[in-house]
Amino acid sequence: MTTRITITRPDDWHLHVRDGAMLKASLPFTARVFGRAILMPNLVPPVLTAADGAAYRQRAMAVLPTDTKFTPLITCYLTDDTDPDDVERGFREGIFTAVKLYPANATTNSAAGVADYAKIERVLARMEKIGMLLLIHCEEVDPTVDVFDREAVFIDRRLIPMAKKFPGLKIVFEHISSKIGIDYVRSAAPQIGASVTPYHMQLNRTDWLGWGNRPYMYCMPVIKTEQDRIAIRQAATSGEACFFLGTDSAPHPVARKLGVIGSAGLFNSPVCMETYAQIFDEDDKLENLEKFASLNGPKHYGLPPNSDTITLEKTSWTAPEEVLFDGPEERALIYRGGEKIPWKVVSA
Ligand code: NCD
Ligand code: ZN
Repeated sequence: MTTRITITRPDDWHLHVRDGAMLKASLPFTARVFGRAILMPNLVPPVLTAADGAAYRQRAMAVLPTDTKFTPLITCYLTDDTDPDDVERGFREGIFTAVKLYPANATTNSAAGVADYAKIERVLARMEKIGMLLLIHCEEVDPTVDVFDREAVFIDRRLIPMAKKFPGLKIVFEHISSKIGIDYVRSAAPQIGASVTPYHMQLNRTDWLGWGNRPYMYCMPVIKTEQDRIAIRQAATSGEACFFLGTDSAPHPVARKLGVIGSAGLFNSPVCMETYAQIFDEDDKLENLEKFASLNGPKHYGLPPNSDTITLEKTSWTAPEEVLFDGPEERALIYRGGEKIPWKVVSA
C-alpha cells in the first residue's frame, strides 16, 4: 500500500480567488501547493482588458510573500465587444495566458459574457493565429434547455461548430460535468482538453438534493448523475493526456451562498490536492496522479512542467470549516469542512 507519494509540483488550471479581502484570504491556500494557477476573470468588475489583467496580477502578487515561487496566470473575460488587438497585446506582453468564454448568465458574474457568438469570431480568429488558448464554460443558457442538459446542448450547438471553424484554436472544456462531455473531449483531443474538479468526481445529484437541499454542493455546471460521476472519475484517473486538474475553487461570502437565490461555487482550495490524492488512491490509480495534476495541463497549454516537487502522505487530518475575511461577519465555508481527510500535503 502506498502511503507517501512525491510528484512534480502541480498547477491549478481553473481557480477563482476574487479580489480584495477574499483574494488575500484564499490565494495563499493555492500558492502553498501549486506552481501556477489560472485565475478566472469573473471579478466585479471583470478583467476585460490587458490593463485590467496587469492590475489584477499585481493585486494577486501583493497578497503573497515577496519570495513566493507561485505564478498567477491571468485570463481575459470575453464579451461581445472584446478588441482582438488588445487581446493580442496582452498575450504578447505576457499578461494574458488565455481568454475565458462565459455564455452570458451561465454562472456567477457572467452577465457581461458572450450573448452573440458571431461577434466573437474576430477574436477567435486572432487567437487561432497567435496560438492563444480559449477556456470555455460549456453550457447553453437557453430557458428551453433543461439545466442538466446545458452541457450536452452547448457541445452540439456551439462547441462542435466552433472547433470545426477554428481548427487551430486550442480549447479547454472547463469543469467537465457529464459523460457526454467526456466522450466528446476524447474524440476532439488534442485540440480540446478538459479541466476536472474534485467535486464532479465525488458527488452525484442525489448527494446534493436527495437528503435535503445542500447548498454547499451547488455549483455550475450542476452536479449530475452517478453515471456521469463515474465517467468523469474514470477519465481523470486514467492519466489520459486530455484530462487535467482544475479545482474551480470558488469562495462566496456565506450570506450570499445561503441566500434565497444562492450563489453557485464551492470553495475547495484548502483541501483540493488532498482530495484529488484520496480519489486516485481509492481507485487504485495513484500512479496516474502526477500526469493529471502536473504534466497533462502544462502539455495542453504548451508550457513546461514545474521543476520541483511536492510530497503527500496518508495521514489523517480534519479540514477547517471556514475561512474568515474582512472582519468577523464575512466568512466562506470550505468544501468538506470538518471532514476527516486521509491524505495530507506534507512538503511543498
Ligand atoms: C464559479 C464562481 O463562483 O465564480 N461558480 C461555479 O459554480 N463554478 C463560476 C464558474 O466557474 O462557473
Ligand atoms: Zn469556475
